[in-house]
Amino acid sequence: MSLYHLIYESRATQSFTDRDLLELLRHSRGFNAQRNLTGLLLYSPGGRFLQVLEGAQAEVEAVYQRISQDARHTACVVLLAGPLATRRFAEWRMGFRATRHLTDLAALLGHVDTASPDFLLPLLPKLSTSLLDRIFDYVHHVPVHALLEEQAA
Ligand SMILES: Cc1cc2nc3c(=O)[nH]c(=O)nc-3n(C[C@H](O)[C@H](O)[C@H](O)COP(=O)(O)O)c2cc1C
Repeated sequence: MSLYHLIYESRATQSFTDRDLLELLRHSRGFNAQRNLTGLLLYSPGGRFLQVLEGAQAEVEAVYQRISQDARHTACVVLLAGPLATRRFAEWRMGFRATRHLTDLAALLGHVDTASPDFLLPLLPKLSTSLLDRIFDYVHHVPVHALLEEQAA
């Protein structure tokens, strides 16, 4: 089976409490485990999401299709999608990190203003798979959220 990945960002349409995020992650982890999907969800205090999805192309595209129609967020923009040699988040059914500052996301994505409504669009042609590496490195510097990070299996 050839591997595929998709990274998108979006804006929350409501404020997410820890309880809301927990419910979302519980559902996602259950579903993703059944479909052999792995990945990571980043949530910034300003209500920005950045999600990495990895798995079979058909599964990744199908779940993204559903996610992008979810009314709890809007303005989903695919940053990167394509074949993947090996899973970066193989052990994570859907890992979670709360970014402490909105600027963390900007730094990850290349020093752009994440508060701007179309903040990523000019960057799209410049993004490469190194984004996945940067996200992977980043999560190892962010403290684990005791409630929301999945327990080691
Ligand atoms: C930011 C965000 C990320 C999500 N990630 C996933 C995910 O990785 N897997 C998943 O099954 N659902 C995810 N969801 C939930 C789906 O959008 C959807 O609500 C859920 O799959 C239930 O769909 P259904 O009502 O059609 O069964 C996410 C929702 C949001 C807002």
